[in-house]
Amino acid sequence: MSNKESFGSKFGIIAAAAGSAIGLGNIYRFPCEAGANGGGAFFIVYLAIVLLMGLPLMVSEFIIGRRSGKNPVGAFKTLAPDRKSWSGIGYMGVVCAFLILAFYCTVAGWTIDAVGKSIINYYHGLDNATIQRDFNSLMNESWQPILSEGIFIFLTAFIIIKGVTKGIEKYSKILMPILLGILIILGVKSLTLPGAADGVEFFLKPDFSKITGKVLINALGQAFFSLSLGMGCLITYGSYIAKKDNLTSTAFAVCISDTLIAVLAGIVIFPAAFSFGIRPEAGNELAFVTLPILFNQMTGGYFFCLFFFLLLTIAALTSSISVLEVPVLFLTEELKISRKKATIYSAIGAFVLCVIASESLHDDTPLKIFGLRIFDAFDELTSTFLMTIGGLLTVLFLGWKMKKADFMDEYTNGGTVSMGLRKIMYFIIKFLAPIAITVILITQFIK
Ligand code: PFF
Repeated sequence: MSNKESFGSKFGIIAAAAGSAIGLGNIYRFPCEAGANGGGAFFIVYLAIVLLMGLPLMVSEFIIGRRSGKNPVGAFKTLAPDRKSWSGIGYMGVVCAFLILAFYCTVAGWTIDAVGKSIINYYHGLDNATIQRDFNSLMNESWQPILSEGIFIFLTAFIIIKGVTKGIEKYSKILMPILLGILIILGVKSLTLPGAADGVEFFLKPDFSKITGKVLINALGQAFFSLSLGMGCLITYGSYIAKKDNLTSTAFAVCISDTLIAVLAGIVIFPAAFSFGIRPEAGNELAFVTLPILFNQMTGGYFFCLFFFLLLTIAALTSSISVLEVPVLFLTEELKISRKKATIYSAIGAFVLCVIASESLHDDTPLKIFGLRIFDAFDELTSTFLMTIGGLLTVLFLGWKMKKADFMDEYTNGGTVSMGLRKIMYFIIKFLAPIAITVILITQFIK
């Protein structure tokens, strides 16, 4: 490891990686994907993928990051000095980071907008149709979304420049359990609404006949997105992990907490959406319309609404800083640009892309590629292709390029911890994960 500082405690690295994983992907994107892909069928596939591929891939990224002590581009250059082309994985991650930020900050902008509306108690007394119309008109506006996206990107860059990332993570250790607590209360409320049972059935009852190639690829993409995999983000974080930390238990804790939040989000959103007559395929509206309606019906709804959207903004921030950290660390380590400049350039780049993505959501937009609005195209391109291909190449690197002895050495902290699962883990990384990801990708490409 280089002369970098590492995370102070084991809890520090879990908090940081969980901070990266838990975000809009769990509460906004997971319900969108589950809703569009048949509910229960998606859910069961998603769980299997998290366990069988997400966890091993997370361990893989940690190994690469910690072994090299570098950013994703530098990491592959260091670990495979004879074959520089492996660093292409790192470059792909840098590109991916910008595209993710473009649509992520758009959605985070809606979250900030919701915080503002909660403060002034805007939703109070509005009927369901008005809340829905309001959200749609927000997407058709220009300045308001641009302003909130700008605030969000500014906050992200500010935290990175000030180097207070750890401070944020310290608070998120307290705040994320509160978010969990609020989600549980919301879940109870949602489950007791009239017609909630249909939503529960839709979300949790697996209908195996609905498992198609599309469900598989979307679940794979969602798992990688939600766990921040396949684009070097956790390689970057891995470079800060101390040599004594246990990589499997860290990855396990992150996967469990991330999945728990996503499942709870589904339990809150689907019963409520069914009860309010919002279709499960409604996409963006699932979180941003269903939840304000739900808050309106609750005692203490004002506070729940405000705290919920505030905490969601913080969860989104701990994720966006981890995405922005990828190009920033690349620019500082590889191109020797100062951290401050690297952050400013990257943030400006992300902001420009973000404005294009959010403008593409207007009803009459010309901003489309292959018939997809740029917002959706960035989303699709990153989670369905770049992150899955990045993940595939990462496991191929560990399984086939890196020496097994080096893998085991890093995985067992130099032989100091016994890893009962190490053979299974190696088998999954070398054979199972690459084959499974390839099959899923090929089915999709053929289509
Ligand atoms: N995992 C984050 C979420 O679920 O909101 C999003 C994300 C963070 C994706 C970091 C990719 C990444 F590298």
